[in-house]
Amino acid sequence: MRNEHRLRYFDYSATTPVDARVIEAMMQCLGVEGCFGNPASTSHAFGLEARAWVEQARARVASLIGAAPDSIFWTSGATESTNLALKGFAETARGPCRFITSPLEHKATLDTLATLATRGHTVTCIQPSPSGAITASALSDTISDATSLVSLMMVNNELGTLTDIAEIAAIVHSAGAILHVDAAQALGKVPIDVDRLGIDLMSMSAHKLYGPKGIGALYVRPEWIARIAGQIHGGGHEQGLRSGTLATHQIVGMGMACEIAASSMDADARHIETLSQSFLDGLAEIDGITVNARAARRIPNTLSLTVDDPGFLPFMLSGDLAVSSTSACNSASGRPSHVLTGIGLSPEAASRTVRISFGRYSTQADIEFALRCIRTAVDQCRAAR
Ligand SMILES: Cc1ncc(COP(=O)(O)O)c(C=O)c1O
Repeated sequence: MRNEHRLRYFDYSATTPVDARVIEAMMQCLGVEGCFGNPASTSHAFGLEARAWVEQARARVASLIGAAPDSIFWTSGATESTNLALKGFAETARGPCRFITSPLEHKATLDTLATLATRGHTVTCIQPSPSGAITASALSDTISDATSLVSLMMVNNELGTLTDIAEIAAIVHSAGAILHVDAAQALGKVPIDVDRLGIDLMSMSAHKLYGPKGIGALYVRPEWIARIAGQIHGGGHEQGLRSGTLATHQIVGMGMACEIAASSMDADARHIETLSQSFLDGLAEIDGITVNARAARRIPNTLSLTVDDPGFLPFMLSGDLAVSSTSACNSASGRPSHVLTGIGLSPEAASRTVRISFGRYSTQADIEFALRCIRTAVDQCRAAR
């Protein structure tokens, strides 16, 4: 429960508030005067109208990533999309698959692949570079013509590092494998064109781009649709890939969030870059703070900071900043972040690390406030020694 009037939100990588225009579009799908029909009820106008809204939303998501609308499949979020992509692919394979991934992936990918490993498939991890990047050369050293599928994220949720997907895709395809990309943290923040980048399967989530929680999508390149076996069976919705009544309001919300992102991505990026630079300039004046993976290509909205003093974190987390001591998924497990240990931090250093992430509604006043809080936490911590 938020009880601090001054608490400022710096956890946009965990989730974003829903844009007011998205809320308005969603509300129009709910009440008796709204578009509340079941999109599968094609025998009457209520259902047909809902179906039309769902298809408009599908076209909006598709347009943001340069895809055809019928290559977009609704899911409950990026976790489900990744489960569908990887398990669905493994299920139609004639024999055991060989997967390649990285140790810096989201648990949605790592845990799904770990499950597939218990079913006889093989999973190999490529090592990140010392700067925390997943490089094409690391993939080249590992891939072979026996590789079935490579699964890598576009933007890392803890470090903000950006992977060169086009370069990766060329290597994957020349080995005869296919590429799944987790784009949960990239959608709406960086331009994505699935054809230009060579993406075959891509997981997306609405709640990271000012849409609602509980809705996402999987992009499947048309020639691979027959290779993905549905994991939720029922009425054969979504071309048989994902059964269940479509959540019109959630879907319309995701469509609207994507439509807004298409027009505001450049302005958002410029705004966040300015804030991030100002934050980094301020941090440079405070001793004992390291920005992780700073040398890698990164998007500016996510910063991972390790502080030298072990006493700093409690001051920081009990203060007026809503930051993350690690990613939301790792917070749930209570273990040190596998991403931070994956780039070489000790568990102890990982426990001195916070993630700060900005978004569309962050302001310069928030940045100045955050810098003041960090300075105060450092001073309090030093005084307590
Ligand atoms: C990189 C990445 N992949 C997947 C997910 C899971 O997304 P969802 O919450 O939509 O299941 C997240 C969310 O934290 C994420 O950051």
